[in-house]
Amino acid sequence: MIYSDKVMDHFNNPRNIGEIPDADGVGLVGNPVCGDVMKIMIKVNKETEIIEDIKFKTFGCGAAVATSSMVTEMIKGKGLTLDEALKISNKKVAEALDGLPPVKMHCSVLAEEGLKAAIEDYRKKNEKNI
Ligand code: FES
Repeated sequence: MIYSDKVMDHFNNPRNIGEIPDADGVGLVGNPVCGDVMKIMIKVNKETEIIEDIKFKTFGCGAAVATSSMVTEMIKGKGLTLDEALKISNKKVAEALDGLPPVKMHCSVLAEEGLKAAIEDYRKKNEKNI
Protein backbone atom coordinates (compact mmCIF):
# COMPACT_ATOMS: atom_id res chain seq x y z
CA MET A 1 0.00 0.00 0.00
CA ILE A 2 1.36 3.41 -0.94
CA TYR A 3 0.98 6.27 1.51
CA SER A 4 1.74 9.89 0.75
CA ASP A 5 4.71 11.57 2.43
CA LYS A 6 2.29 13.63 4.49
CA VAL A 7 0.53 10.54 5.83
CA MET A 8 3.89 9.04 6.77
CA ASP A 9 4.98 12.30 8.40
CA HIS A 10 1.84 12.58 10.54
CA PHE A 11 2.05 8.90 11.41
CA ASN A 12 5.69 9.16 12.47
CA ASN A 13 5.36 12.57 14.17
CA PRO A 14 1.75 12.96 15.26
CA ARG A 15 0.81 16.52 16.20
CA ASN A 16 -1.22 17.43 19.29
CA ILE A 17 -1.23 13.98 20.78
CA GLY A 18 -2.20 13.76 24.46
CA GLU A 19 -4.93 14.71 26.89
CA ILE A 20 -6.61 17.96 27.85
CA PRO A 21 -7.36 17.28 31.52
CA ASP A 22 -10.07 19.94 31.78
CA ALA A 23 -11.47 19.49 28.26
CA ASP A 24 -14.81 21.16 27.51
CA GLY A 25 -15.81 18.47 25.04
CA VAL A 26 -14.68 14.89 24.51
CA GLY A 27 -15.52 12.69 21.55
CA LEU A 28 -14.85 8.99 21.71
CA VAL A 29 -15.56 7.04 18.56
CA GLY A 30 -14.67 3.64 17.23
CA ASN A 31 -14.98 1.45 14.19
CA PRO A 32 -16.49 -1.89 15.16
CA VAL A 33 -15.04 -3.62 12.10
CA CYS A 34 -11.35 -2.91 12.68
CA GLY A 35 -11.67 -2.14 16.41
CA ASP A 36 -9.80 1.15 16.19
CA VAL A 37 -10.68 3.84 18.71
CA MET A 38 -10.13 7.60 18.62
CA LYS A 39 -10.58 10.18 21.34
CA ILE A 40 -10.68 13.90 20.54
CA MET A 41 -10.67 16.57 23.25
CA ILE A 42 -11.41 20.26 22.77
CA LYS A 43 -11.14 23.43 24.79
CA VAL A 44 -13.73 26.01 23.78
CA ASN A 45 -13.99 29.74 24.45
CA LYS A 46 -17.53 30.02 25.78
CA GLU A 47 -17.97 33.62 24.63
CA THR A 48 -16.82 33.23 21.04
CA GLU A 49 -17.32 29.46 20.56
CA ILE A 50 -13.81 29.33 19.09
CA ILE A 51 -11.90 26.09 19.62
CA GLU A 52 -8.77 27.16 21.48
CA ASP A 53 -7.11 23.81 21.96
CA ILE A 54 -7.48 20.30 20.62
CA LYS A 55 -5.69 17.06 21.36
CA PHE A 56 -6.22 13.44 20.47
CA LYS A 57 -5.40 9.90 21.38
CA THR A 58 -5.81 7.15 18.85
CA PHE A 59 -5.59 3.46 19.39
CA GLY A 60 -5.59 2.35 15.82
CA CYS A 61 -3.99 1.98 12.45
CA GLY A 62 -1.43 4.33 10.94
CA ALA A 63 -4.00 6.10 8.77
CA ALA A 64 -6.20 6.69 11.83
CA VAL A 65 -3.24 8.24 13.66
CA ALA A 66 -2.37 10.40 10.63
CA THR A 67 -5.96 11.59 10.08
CA SER A 68 -6.51 12.44 13.73
CA SER A 69 -3.20 14.32 13.80
CA MET A 70 -4.20 16.22 10.65
CA VAL A 71 -7.68 17.12 11.90
CA THR A 72 -6.16 18.70 15.02
CA GLU A 73 -3.74 20.68 12.81
CA MET A 74 -6.67 21.94 10.72
CA ILE A 75 -8.20 23.40 13.88
CA LYS A 76 -5.49 24.34 16.33
CA GLY A 77 -4.58 28.02 16.14
CA LYS A 78 -6.90 28.58 13.18
CA GLY A 79 -9.55 30.46 15.16
CA LEU A 80 -12.39 28.25 13.96
CA THR A 81 -15.76 28.37 15.69
CA LEU A 82 -17.67 25.20 16.48
CA ASP A 83 -19.89 25.72 13.41
CA GLU A 84 -16.87 26.20 11.16
CA ALA A 85 -15.18 23.12 12.59
CA LEU A 86 -18.31 21.08 11.86
CA LYS A 87 -17.72 21.71 8.15
CA ILE A 88 -14.46 19.74 8.21
CA SER A 89 -15.31 16.52 6.42
CA ASN A 90 -13.31 13.32 6.28
CA LYS A 91 -12.67 14.09 2.59
CA LYS A 92 -11.06 17.41 3.48
CA VAL A 93 -8.85 15.68 6.03
CA ALA A 94 -7.81 13.06 3.47
CA GLU A 95 -7.13 15.77 0.87
CA ALA A 96 -4.97 17.68 3.34
CA LEU A 97 -2.89 14.51 3.65
CA ASP A 98 -2.55 14.31 -0.16
CA GLY A 99 -5.02 11.44 -0.25
CA LEU A 100 -5.45 8.04 1.32
CA PRO A 101 -5.66 4.63 -0.31
CA PRO A 102 -9.37 3.77 -0.91
CA VAL A 103 -9.36 0.97 1.67
CA LYS A 104 -8.15 3.50 4.24
CA MET A 105 -10.75 6.21 3.64
CA HIS A 106 -12.86 4.85 6.50
CA CYS A 107 -10.03 5.77 8.88
CA SER A 108 -10.54 9.43 8.03
CA VAL A 109 -14.23 9.02 8.89
CA LEU A 110 -13.17 8.38 12.48
CA ALA A 111 -11.40 11.76 12.54
CA GLU A 112 -14.54 13.55 11.32
CA GLU A 113 -16.79 11.65 13.70
CA GLY A 114 -14.45 12.15 16.65
CA LEU A 115 -14.40 15.90 16.11
CA LYS A 116 -18.19 16.03 15.72
CA ALA A 117 -18.66 13.95 18.86
CA ALA A 118 -16.42 16.31 20.84
CA ILE A 119 -18.44 19.32 19.63
CA GLU A 120 -21.75 17.59 20.44
CA ASP A 121 -20.43 16.72 23.88
CA TYR A 122 -19.50 20.37 24.47
CA ARG A 123 -22.93 21.54 23.30
CA LYS A 124 -24.75 19.01 25.49
CA LYS A 125 -22.82 20.14 28.54
CA ASN A 126 -23.41 23.81 27.79
CA GLU A 127 -27.06 23.77 26.79
CA LYS A 128 -28.74 26.79 28.21
CA ASN A 129 -31.67 25.99 30.44
CA ILE A 130 -34.34 28.28 29.10
FE1 FES B 1 -9.51 1.06 11.43
FE2 FES B 1 -7.90 2.48 10.03
S1 FES B 1 -8.15 0.35 9.93
S2 FES B 1 -9.37 3.16 11.44
